Amino acid sequence: MKNKLNAAQKKLVKKALEARKNAYAPYSNFRVGSAIESSDGKIFVGCNVEDAAYSTTCCAERVALFTAVCAGKKKFKRIAVASDADGACPPCGTCRQALMEFERDMEVIMASPKGHTKLMRLADLLPEPFHSLR
Ligand code: THU
Repeated sequence: MKNKLNAAQKKLVKKALEARKNAYAPYSNFRVGSAIESSDGKIFVGCNVEDAAYSTTCCAERVALFTAVCAGKKKFKRIAVASDADGACPPCGTCRQALMEFERDMEVIMASPKGHTKLMRLADLLPEPFHSLR
C-alpha cells in the first residue's frame, strides 16, 4: 500500500501516540498505544495494560477494539498502533486474529514517535487466519 498517510490516517496515528502515554507497562517498560476508527468515523483508543501474572496482559490494539465493540461498533476502517520504539510497531498475532474477526481489509497503520510509518492491509498481515471449520 502507499505509505504516505492521508489526513484520517495521520489523525489516528496522533491518537495512538497519545494513548500510549497511558500505558501501564511496569514489567516490560514497552508502552503501546492504539486507535481504531469505526465505519461511522468514531475513534476509540487503547493502551497496553500489564499484570504481575504476565499472561493476563492485554495489548493496546485489543483494548481499543474491545472498547469500540462495547460501544456497539462492529465495522472498522482502520487501526493505528504506536510504541516508544524507533521503528513502526506491528501488531502481535493475537491482535491480528482479533481484528480479523471484524474486517479483513482494515488498514493497519504502524507508527513510531519519530514519525516512521508503515501502512498495510490486515489480510496481508494475517494471510491465513483461523476460522472455525464447523
Ligand atoms: N504489546 C501491545 O500492546 N501490542 C502488540 O501488538 C504487541 C505487544 C504490548 C504487550 C506488552 O505489554 C508489551 O507490549 C510487551 O510485549
